[in-house]
Amino acid sequence: MNFSIDSTVTLNNGVKMPQLGLGVWKINNAGAAQSVQWAIKHGYRAIDTAKQYGNEAGVGEGLTKALADNGLKREDIFLTTKIFNGDQGYESTLKNFDGQLKNLQTDYVDLLLIHWPVDGKYPDTWKALEKIYQEGKARAIGVSNFNITRLQDVLKNGSIKPAVDQMEFNPLCQEVDIKNFCDEHNIHLEAWSPLGGGTVLGDERLQKIADKYNKSVAQVILRWDLQQGIITIPKSVHEERIVQNADLFDFELSDEDVAEIKGYDEDKRSLWYGGFKWHGNPTGFGDAVQSWEDTGEYAK
Ligand code: A2P
Repeated sequence: MNFSIDSTVTLNNGVKMPQLGLGVWKINNAGAAQSVQWAIKHGYRAIDTAKQYGNEAGVGEGLTKALADNGLKREDIFLTTKIFNGDQGYESTLKNFDGQLKNLQTDYVDLLLIHWPVDGKYPDTWKALEKIYQEGKARAIGVSNFNITRLQDVLKNGSIKPAVDQMEFNPLCQEVDIKNFCDEHNIHLEAWSPLGGGTVLGDERLQKIADKYNKSVAQVILRWDLQQGIITIPKSVHEERIVQNADLFDFELSDEDVAEIKGYDEDKRSLWYGGFKWHGNPTGFGDAVQSWEDTGEYAK
């Protein structure tokens, strides 16, 4: 398998999306501006943010600087953002999305996702995304954290098929049924927190595999994502880790090792429903996170 940092997957509307990008969850504006600049300097061509992260302005600033510093054009970068839970609904999504573009210092995004499936609202939010797509302000649209039932709902009632479902995905949380459903319907699975937010990195079994290839556990996990066709967006605020997380192209995991890691699945979703607290964003975005309830409907 011949991958490079420029490797792309082709989404179901023909748009090409880099398979590796930088994620910026839990980074403030200044940190996001810095991480985005490091990432682009070191060859990343995709950035993933969300209004809920409270750092779109930092991403916009970092992106604008990085384009100038590296002689790149806006179209050289694949930019993803997401609709904030509190903005969901048709009119509200349309109204607030323009503010997101302004913060991101761009007049379009490459991929726009519904961040979470706010029940009762996401069907109208999806209609707004379809309009944004038709107006050319998003080159592709998709969802995040949607289980099979909700994906089926969007497929049935929407007029455009989601291009991507961005899910929590790491060796201990593989969402096998959702991945199979996505494969069947030509929806690309994208992994959020591919390193399990760092928690998977101490796994001794993965360390053993990493030692064999003379790579880090992070690199083994990210390479494992790529070899399965999964889009992956590791986050880091450290330049050397940003570099390390893109140094994935001088080794290949054997089929046995890919299968071995598949065997580690524990269906273990993260702390999201377990009391994660926002780090104090004055805009109040954090309220939506804290008031998010796990109704149990999320289960497969
Ligand atoms: P930091 O940002 O301080 O570098 P995920 O992408 O799964 O959410 O994981 C992100 C977490 O993993 C962050 O805590 C990040 O810390 C850490 N991390 C990212 N890349 C590496 C790496 N190559 N080695 C060790 N830790 C990493």
